[in-house]
Amino acid sequence: MNIVLFGPPGSGKGTQAKLLAERYGVPHISTGDILRENINKETKLGLEARTYMDRGELLPDDVLIGIIKDRLSQSDCASGFLLDGYPRTLPQAEALSTILTELGKNLDVVLNIDVPEEELLKRLAGRRMCVCGASYHILFNKPKQEGICDLCGSKLYHRDDDKEEAIMNRLDVYKDQTQPLIDHYTQAGVMLTINGAADIGDVFNEICRLLDDLKSGI
Ligand code: AP5
Ligand code: MG
Repeated sequence: MNIVLFGPPGSGKGTQAKLLAERYGVPHISTGDILRENINKETKLGLEARTYMDRGELLPDDVLIGIIKDRLSQSDCASGFLLDGYPRTLPQAEALSTILTELGKNLDVVLNIDVPEEELLKRLAGRRMCVCGASYHILFNKPKQEGICDLCGSKLYHRDDDKEEAIMNRLDVYKDQTQPLIDHYTQAGVMLTINGAADIGDVFNEICRLLDDLKSGI
């Protein structure tokens, strides 16, 4: 299945994508993770990305469109993919549609994870990340040992864009540039909205139920 996980910063896209990728055997493609990997490796893209990400701004569309075109052309996407953090603007959504047509694929569903803003603020302020990509929360999703990744044993860190000023900017950017895509995908008939304010496991079960229904109808 070809899936877009959609939602504001902190809605749980990355958390759910990891669980879903395992369950459905499709690659999890997070543009934020790809950019952070480039920042860690100090590539040219990483140096450019950092200036935007630390402020909570979006990178230029052409940069992201190029990344996604390359990634979706790879062989592991042959039987499906799970996009997390892309598209975030109308030009990105239009480019996705062109890329998929060129590759002979369709978008099956856009899952909109809906979470009230006050909950998003709590989630982002308490999130802790690992270099291996795992993500935790100091209250809602604690590692077994405080400050240490369960999966690889590395020290957890606080994302630079999870500081208060950048969080507020990311939420504004989401409302201005990304939220309008809800209408775009609703009109295209592929948008499903999920209550993302429940526990991680309950949200996961709800998404699986919707995807299984959809799969049996495909
Ligand atoms: P990106 O990394 O995509 O960040 P984001 O969209 O702001 O989303 P987050 O990763 O912050 O949240 P999430 O929804 O994944 O939540 P998570 O599962 O971690 O993008 C970062 C930056 O990269 C952008 O600002 C931009 O600069 C650039 N960028 C990326 N893509 C781009 C694009 N397409 N175009 C242009 N620029 C782009 O959960 C959050 C926390 O909540 C965690 O602590 C988690 O444990 C906890 N949690 C999750 N679910 C629950 C739950 N149900 N109950 C309680 N806690 C929960
Ligand atoms: Mg994420």
